[in-house]
Amino acid sequence: MTADGTDETTGAGTETGTDTGEEDAQAFYGRWARLYDLLARKTPGITALRARAAAACRLESGDTVVEMGCGTGANLPYLREQVGPEGTVIGVDFTRPVLERARELTVEYDNVHVVRGDATAPPVADADAVLATFVAGMLADPAGAVDDWCDLVGSDGHVVLVNAARSREWYGPPVNAVFRAVVVLSTPPTTKLRYETSPHELLDERIDAAHDRLRDRSAAIAHETHAFGVVRLTGGRIR
Ligand SMILES: C[S@@+](CC[C@H](N)C(=O)[O-])C[C@H]1O[C@@H](n2cnc3c(N)ncnc32)[C@H](O)[C@@H]1O
Repeated sequence: MTADGTDETTGAGTETGTDTGEEDAQAFYGRWARLYDLLARKTPGITALRARAAAACRLESGDTVVEMGCGTGANLPYLREQVGPEGTVIGVDFTRPVLERARELTVEYDNVHVVRGDATAPPVADADAVLATFVAGMLADPAGAVDDWCDLVGSDGHVVLVNAARSREWYGPPVNAVFRAVVVLSTPPTTKLRYETSPHELLDERIDAAHDRLRDRSAAIAHETHAFGVVRLTGGRIR
């Protein structure tokens, strides 16, 4: 545990990581931690979505749940509600300022732990469920990460993904035009004017890969969409 109250893990490999994408993401979310936190908690409809995501983890009292890329911890109270005072909630993120905010906001719960680490090399060996909201699109190998999370929870455990990608609804085109603009503006680094692959296409590819892999690994799947089809929630009971 560090002086700022966050648990520091060994082997996360992110502090001096050489992957520019990771460094950009940490700098971006670090810089905008407070603003992101406001959006993460106050965006219309977001509290209901977080409650749905936590419920989709199918947790029981006393269970252990890990949130990968927990950010400022907006899901942690909902997960804590599901596992009760006897359970354990672990939030993992590699960006220190967002973790500090998550710690501040969960300090009253002694069974909620905030850990600095890499979601693609989870610093946790065992859990009943894994939740990852708005994270898969930031990972270079989202399907590989989903595989690791499925292995972590094991047979009959649950993995729940929530992500924003293009809408597949019939009224999708205008919705997707707005969504693309938001993605371009909010993709770190925002100062970059030209991308090798457009950020929204890359995002779509990564989200498809993550959700498809979860489907492949699951014995049972629950899927729903929100926000005009832009937000996908997929929960799987792992085979
Ligand atoms: C869009 S935010 C979502 C935060 C939170 N899940 C939510 O729903 O509000 C993405 C978060 O994932 C974290 N992140 C991205 N890649 C990560 C990785 N490989 N390991 C740990 N955290 C990661 C970022 O630091 C950021 O806090």
